[in-house]
Amino acid sequence: MTVETPIGLTRAVEESSKKELEVLALLSRSLLETVDLDEQLGLTIRLAAEALRADRGSIMLVDQETGNLQITAAEGLPPEMIGHVVPVGEGIAGWVARHNEPVAVHGEVQDPRFEGVNPSLDSAISLPMYSHGVVMGVLNLVRISGDEFIEQDLRFASSLADMASVAIEKASLYARLKDREARMSRLLGAAIGAQEQERRRIAAEIHDGFLQDLSALFLKIEKVRNLLKREQIDDAMATTKEVQDDIRDQVASIRDFIFEVRPPSLDQIGLAPTLEAMVQRMISGDGVTAAFSSELGPDRLPESIETILYRTAQEALRNVVKHAKASMVSVRLDRSGSRVILEIEDNGRGFDARTPKRGHYGLETMRERIELAGGDFHIMPRDGGGTIVGAILPLD
Ligand SMILES: Nc1ncnc2c1ncn2[C@@H]1O[C@H](COP(=O)(O)OP(=O)(O)OP(=O)(O)O)[C@@H](O)[C@H]1O
Ligand SMILES: [Mg+2]
Repeated sequence: MTVETPIGLTRAVEESSKKELEVLALLSRSLLETVDLDEQLGLTIRLAAEALRADRGSIMLVDQETGNLQITAAEGLPPEMIGHVVPVGEGIAGWVARHNEPVAVHGEVQDPRFEGVNPSLDSAISLPMYSHGVVMGVLNLVRISGDEFIEQDLRFASSLADMASVAIEKASLYARLKDREARMSRLLGAAIGAQEQERRRIAAEIHDGFLQDLSALFLKIEKVRNLLKREQIDDAMATTKEVQDDIRDQVASIRDFIFEVRPPSLDQIGLAPTLEAMVQRMISGDGVTAAFSSELGPDRLPESIETILYRTAQEALRNVVKHAKASMVSVRLDRSGSRVILEIEDNGRGFDARTPKRGHYGLETMRERIELAGGDFHIMPRDGGGTIVGAILPLD
C-alpha cells in the first residue's frame, strides 16, 4: 500500500524549502559583503524569526573570559534588551552554551535543568553556535502561541546558527587582522624613530667623543714636534708615551662602542657567546654579580631571532643598570623543543609594569618585537624582590 502525500502539504513543504533557500542565499551574500558583525547577526535573527514564524528571537554571544552570554541581536524583544547579560549556565541558553547541545522545549517548562525559565514559553529552540568545539554563542527562537517547532525547523535553524558562527569567526579574524595591522604600523613608526635616535646618538658619540679625542691627540703630537725641535728628547718621549696610552684607550672605547651598536661576534660566533660577553661588559664591577647560563652552546639560531633576542637582552640589561639598583643579575638562554627562551632576572627594586610610562619606549619596543615575531613577552615580579623579564620565541 502506498500513502499519497496530499497535494496541499507537498506544496507547503516546497514553499518552506524555497523560503529557506532564499534566506540562506541572502545570508551568505551578506556574509561575503559585510564585516560588520552586528549587522550580520541582526539580519540573521530577523530572517530566522520570519522564516520560522517565531515571535521572538535572539542571538547571544559568549564572553570568552567570563563565560557569560550577552544578547547581541534580537527580534521581537524591546531594544533595551540588546546588551543584556545572562550569567554563565543560567536558563536554557546558558545550559546550551555550557553543554554545546541544542535544546527544544514545548509546553510548560518543567525540566529541572531550566529552573527559573519563563513558564509562558510555548515552543522554544536554542542552538549553540560553535567552531572547533568552542561555543561562541547561542541562537534562540520562541513561539509564544502556536505550533511546536518540528525536526525540519530545527535543522534549518541549525544551518542558520552555523552561518552565524562563520560570521563570528570572520569578524574575530578581521578584528585580529586590524589589530595586527595597527601594531605593525605602530612598530614601523617606533622602529623608524628608534633608528633615527640611534643615528643621532652615534653621531653625537663620534662628535663629542672620538673627534674631541683625535683633536687632543693632534695637539699632543704637535707638542712632541716642538719638543723634538728643541731637542728635549726625554719630554718628547714622555709625551709620545701619553699619545700611545691615549690611542690604546680610544681603541678600547671604539671596540665597546661597536659592540653596543652591533657586535660583530653576533654574526661570527652567535647569540649565546655574544650575550655572555655583553653581560660581563654591562654588569661589571660596582659589587654587582652577573651570571649567564645557556644550554645552547655554539648552536646557531635563525639570524632574525638572534637579533631580536640580542636587542631584547640589551634593553633589559640597560634597564637593570639604569633603574633596578640590583646586586645580582642573571641571564638565561635556553631552548625547549622548537622554542627559545630568554630570561633576564634582577634582584633590584622591582616596578609595576602594568602602568606604562609615557615617553619611555624600551619595554614597549621589546614587547612589540617579540610579539610580532609570534612570541610571548612577559614581565614578572621576582620572588624575594626584583624583576624577571622573559621572552619565548618560536623557532619556526
Ligand atoms: N629592571 C627594572 N627594575 C626596575 N625598574 C624598571 C626595570 N625595567 C624598567 N623599569 C621601569 O620601567 C620604566 C620603563 O622602562 P622603559 O625601558 O620602557 O623606559 P626607560 O628605560 O625609562 O627609557 P627608554 O625609552 O630609554 O628605554 C623605567 O623608567 C623604570 O621605571
Ligand atoms: Mg629602557
